[in-house]
Amino acid sequence: MHPAILWAALFSLVVAEKSPRLKFTVQEPARFHFAKPENYMTVYHQQGSNVLYVGGQAVIYIINFTQKGVQETQIPAGIDEAARQYCAIRSDSKIECDNFITVIEKVNDTFVVCGTNAGTPNCWLLVNNTVLTNLTENGQRVSASDISPTYPSQRSVSLSADGSLYSALSAMGKQLGSIRRTYSSNRLLKSENKWLLNPQFAGAAVIPATQKYNREIYIFFSEVNKTADLDEDPYRARIGRICMDDEGGIKAMLPDSWTTFLKARVMCGTGSTPLQYNNLRRAFVITSPHRTGVMYGLFSNAWDTTVVCAYSIEDIDQAFAKSKLKGYNNPPTGYRHGVCGPKNHTSTQYQKMLGVIRDHPEIEDMILPVGEAPLDLPTEDHFTHIVADTVLAVNDEHYSVIYLGTEQGKILKVLHTIEEAFIISQYSLFHNEGPIINMVIDSQTGHLYIGTAMEVQRVSLADCSRYGDSCRECILSRDPYCGWDMARKRCLAIPANYNVTTGGLLQSLDQSNASVCGDTAAQKTRKTIPKEVQMHKDGPVMLPCPVRSYHATYSWEKDNCIKRYPCTIFGSSCLLGSKPDLPLKEGVFRCMATENGLKQEVVSYKLVFNAGPSVTSPAFTLALSLLLTMIGFCFQ
Ligand SMILES: *[C@@H]1O[C@H](CO)[C@@H](O)[C@H](O)[C@H]1NC(C)=O
Ligand SMILES: *[C@@H]1O[C@H](CO)[C@@H](O)[C@H](O)[C@H]1NC(C)=O
Ligand SMILES: *[C@@H]1O[C@H](CO)[C@@H](O)[C@H](O)[C@H]1NC(C)=O
Ligand SMILES: *[C@@H]1O[C@H](CO)[C@@H](O)[C@H](O)[C@H]1NC(C)=O
Ligand SMILES: *[C@@H]1O[C@H](CO)[C@@H](O)[C@H](O)[C@H]1NC(C)=O
Ligand SMILES: *[C@@H]1O[C@H](CO)[C@@H](O)[C@H](O)[C@H]1NC(C)=O
Ligand SMILES: *[C@@H]1O[C@H](CO)[C@@H](O)[C@H](O)[C@H]1NC(C)=O
Ligand SMILES: *[C@@H]1O[C@H](CO)[C@@H](O)[C@H](O)[C@H]1NC(C)=O
Repeated sequence: MHPAILWAALFSLVVAEKSPRLKFTVQEPARFHFAKPENYMTVYHQQGSNVLYVGGQAVIYIINFTQKGVQETQIPAGIDEAARQYCAIRSDSKIECDNFITVIEKVNDTFVVCGTNAGTPNCWLLVNNTVLTNLTENGQRVSASDISPTYPSQRSVSLSADGSLYSALSAMGKQLGSIRRTYSSNRLLKSENKWLLNPQFAGAAVIPATQKYNREIYIFFSEVNKTADLDEDPYRARIGRICMDDEGGIKAMLPDSWTTFLKARVMCGTGSTPLQYNNLRRAFVITSPHRTGVMYGLFSNAWDTTVVCAYSIEDIDQAFAKSKLKGYNNPPTGYRHGVCGPKNHTSTQYQKMLGVIRDHPEIEDMILPVGEAPLDLPTEDHFTHIVADTVLAVNDEHYSVIYLGTEQGKILKVLHTIEEAFIISQYSLFHNEGPIINMVIDSQTGHLYIGTAMEVQRVSLADCSRYGDSCRECILSRDPYCGWDMARKRCLAIPANYNVTTGGLLQSLDQSNASVCGDTAAQKTRKTIPKEVQMHKDGPVMLPCPVRSYHATYSWEKDNCIKRYPCTIFGSSCLLGSKPDLPLKEGVFRCMATENGLKQEVVSYKLVFNAGPSVTSPAFTLALSLLLTMIGFCFQ
């Protein structure tokens, strides 16, 4: 291959993608390894605690992240021999003859645990963090098969709110899928079968309100039209909504069903182009008490490309409050459909409304994403999970940070502003690169818990010490959790009780602008001591320069800028090499990184030619091995 073509090829690799600015590999000890792979896992975490409950195959792990390390208790939750034998003779081939824990929720102060129980779901109470007791023994009316899926791969969503448990089971096998209130002193309610078309659930959230009776639950899911034409996308993304004060209908109409259920279509794509992402896989909601907030949805299309769309909770509210019902053109019944609050159950208008609700569960308006397009994120990453946080920055404004888990076991940390999605960093956390299958965020203690089939670990949200010890590095990170402390000259986490007027921490979040540091002159003149590298005059030359920020551009300057050479990124380094039109001569080569209009020296070498046979320097060997692993063919 002609060297010039090679270099051109290398360049195209580098500029192709919007990338994380920083890449961290974390191998710190705050982690727990499973003895056997847990391919299906359910997690429970109480905000503010340091304990993570993980439900696996026939076991519950209680994992305690302490100062001294990770402590773990296992509670066996298997099935008995009779159940195993009965399971083995069942004809349903999807049944797995073990107890996969599918639900761990705290309702009031009791822990409710449910599992597939070899295809006959059952629930227990977890008492004293040590024993499982029969839930039904406590005189509770529960139907475990309404709470827990039958199959471990059947997706479900559980939400505990205000002393009640809400459960959504996806359609699978003969099951049609449902949204229910399953464990409560209020009425246990369900969705009508015709309201949901093969639902696959992606998440649920309580939307707070100033009036208690106004509180709602949003449920996120996809519907699948199994008879759709081949050239049609069978998926439709949906938001469903119910009122928490719903007590069901009357004897003659919807006696055990929701009377406030409505659903809307959710769009994720660019404008009105036909390329839409219709399969909503995960959803996460950031709310505030004032009913403002953001819903983040993780979507995929028919080619399994994943994207993220953001939605304003106010927009969703407006759509549900104002839209016409689909297919309903008659005059209003006197009640606004789907609104919460007390109603006159004996009035004839109320009965009429129930009939309309039963037959018209969908609103006409569609929910469009903020900015009318997916977030601008790397397309080569396949995302499996999403959580988000809202952070109060030093300018007294809130910023959203999204955490995305990938198929390769990595985490992307993304600052989402009105203008853009800025990828702060990528974390490589796991020894084996399996997909992230669960994530839980704790905004109170500032931790992110991450699970793969082999490991669970947690990282700090405010991971400020990784940004280095200069103001510039701290500011350019654009991490809302971190600020530059001018007095102590360190990159520090913004404390919870930070005082905006007297605090003294620096940030620049809306755009990268390190001029707040005021030390640009000092940075510019920083020089490194050149390392001497001896090489043969005609031998190949390759000098590595470590890459820190992937948003910087790197180049080599010879003898204080008599000549410039490109520095091409490979993995975590960029390389200097000779080209036919730019042969290398002896002298001092400095690797310069330019970011945000400021140039900084990273490393320097003094290249000396020796007369003898070509000597392989350590620097050269490193660079060569790097290059050879990437493109094994170029030196043959
Ligand atoms: C977790 O560890 C802490 C400190 O050792 C201890 O106080 C706490 O009781 C533990 N919690 C659980 C649930 O084991
Ligand atoms: C839970 O702990 C309490 C107090 O230590 C004890 O009285 C009770 O028997 C325990 N319950 C079970 C089911 O072990
Ligand atoms: C728990 O309840 C189930 C179903 O009601 C019953 O078959 C089983 O024997 C009970 N287990 C115990 C330990 O009481
Ligand atoms: C939860 O607590 C509330 C208030 O004490 C009570 O009314 C309700 O019945 C409890 N819920 C369950 C499921 O026991
Ligand atoms: C499913 O798709 C088919 C083919 O386009 C269509 O005729 C049918 O009405 C759809 N079903 C539903 C429930 O939308
Ligand atoms: C409810 O409606 C019935 C019939 O329209 C009416 O007689 C009754 O007064 C109403 N009750 C209330 C509390 O408004
Ligand atoms: C911040 O500090 C100023 C000056 O000391 C003080 O007046 C103000 O009350 C403080 N603000 C808060 C929220 O504590
Ligand atoms: C950075 O901020 C300074 C002072 O606020 C301003 O003069 C400069 O134009 C900004 N630079 C960029 C690139 O926005």
